[in-house]
Amino acid sequence: MAKERKHYVCQQCGSVSSQWAGRCTDCSAWNSLVEQRPVPVSTSRRGGYTGEASAVQSMKSLSLEQDPRHTTHSAELDRVLGGGLVPGSVILLGGDPGIGKSTLLLQCCCQLHAELPVLYVTGEESLQQVALRASRLNDTQTDLRLLAETQVERILAAVESESPKVLVIDSIQTLYTELVASAPGSVSQLKESVMQLVRLAKARHIALLLVGHVTKEGQLAGPRVVEHMVDAVLYFEGDTDSRFRIIRAVKNRFGAVNELGVFAMTDRGLREVSNPSAIFLSRQSEAVPGSVVMVTWEGSRPMLVEVQALVDESHGGNPRRLALGLEQNRLAMLLAVLHRHGAVATYDQDVFINVVGGVRITEPGIDLALLLAVVSSLKDKAVPLDWVVFGEVGLAGEIRPVASGQERLKEAAKHGFKKAVVPAANAPRKPIDGMEVIAVSKLSQALAAFREL
Ligand code: TYD
Ligand code: MG
Repeated sequence: MAKERKHYVCQQCGSVSSQWAGRCTDCSAWNSLVEQRPVPVSTSRRGGYTGEASAVQSMKSLSLEQDPRHTTHSAELDRVLGGGLVPGSVILLGGDPGIGKSTLLLQCCCQLHAELPVLYVTGEESLQQVALRASRLNDTQTDLRLLAETQVERILAAVESESPKVLVIDSIQTLYTELVASAPGSVSQLKESVMQLVRLAKARHIALLLVGHVTKEGQLAGPRVVEHMVDAVLYFEGDTDSRFRIIRAVKNRFGAVNELGVFAMTDRGLREVSNPSAIFLSRQSEAVPGSVVMVTWEGSRPMLVEVQALVDESHGGNPRRLALGLEQNRLAMLLAVLHRHGAVATYDQDVFINVVGGVRITEPGIDLALLLAVVSSLKDKAVPLDWVVFGEVGLAGEIRPVASGQERLKEAAKHGFKKAVVPAANAPRKPIDGMEVIAVSKLSQALAAFREL
């Protein structure tokens, strides 16, 4: 008999190596490699994830019919999903513990099960806890089917007898399967368990919703290792101390990515915010240095957000650069552009950036607003309250246009902003009522407009 070969799997990123090492060569995590035995490949595991027979077919022989989507009864969640739940699709909902994943899914299930068979499987809470939460949401009178289980084989058996059309698993980190010997929460358990559930969902046209915690270093394996197996990945964002929660689609095989759904956490669960454009604006009574308002365009909606900068003399060898709500590397790059093309030096200054309200900005339209906030803080001179700024800054100091410039300007005008610093290519052809537009094509022009204040 051939000797069984050991292999070692990184519990952070899932990479496999044949030798143990103190540090993962892929993600550089320390002490994350764990010995695992190979998973026996069962003969039933032929074909793709969908469980279809492995036979070559021609495309035109395939049916193009699609099952109608199920609405989740939450317009915001439907929007992020691209118009509701697709039967047979698998959706991963990730987020920090305590952000509201279970609350949202329970709310949806309580609504959905009136029209479809729904099974809610919880591995983290007792059934009584789930019922108590539902009573907080005012929904105990429903006969929603609940199961407290973590073993995949038993979940499969329950699905067999209940035949649900929507299945919720809360959460994937608690799952384990008999097929794999390692502990629940390890990468191989997680992958194998999710794969079994995905096959089931595809074979039986069940819309499967998986909850995954994004965990801090060294804890249970993160949901990122199963992202490639699922059809849609939604992430919950937002400060747990702020009321607002944002759901962002980072992958969606059935809709657009980067679409946002906005919710507010109340004492009766999550409430939808259908017009979120100004929720993150803190209307201050007077202008303060270091604060600039921008209009961002996420998915199909504009949103006004405040970018704050604090620039302070550095006393260490290496000045600090800290960015909350945007990418750290982008900040370092923009500060270099500011030095080279705007003649403003920050090498002896600590720079801290925060996007107010815990929003994450993933589009480059924030660049110009960020640099003006930095200069404003450095010079201790406020940008007026009725200014709004957006635009991408290139490495040559040029200001590049952003998508949906007109719509952004209109939204800002609607909220009473009077002056806009925007890329020249985004300047409107027809004037916008009550809005003066300063069109800039170089960083130096934007800085000049600020100096003239
Ligand atoms: P939960 O949904 O359990 O978070 P997750 O499943 O993502 O870990 O809990 C979210 C938080 O929201 C929890 O701290 C309690 C709070 N909460 C409310 O403020 N109002 C409510 O109606 C409910 C049910 C929870
Ligand atoms: Mg939970």
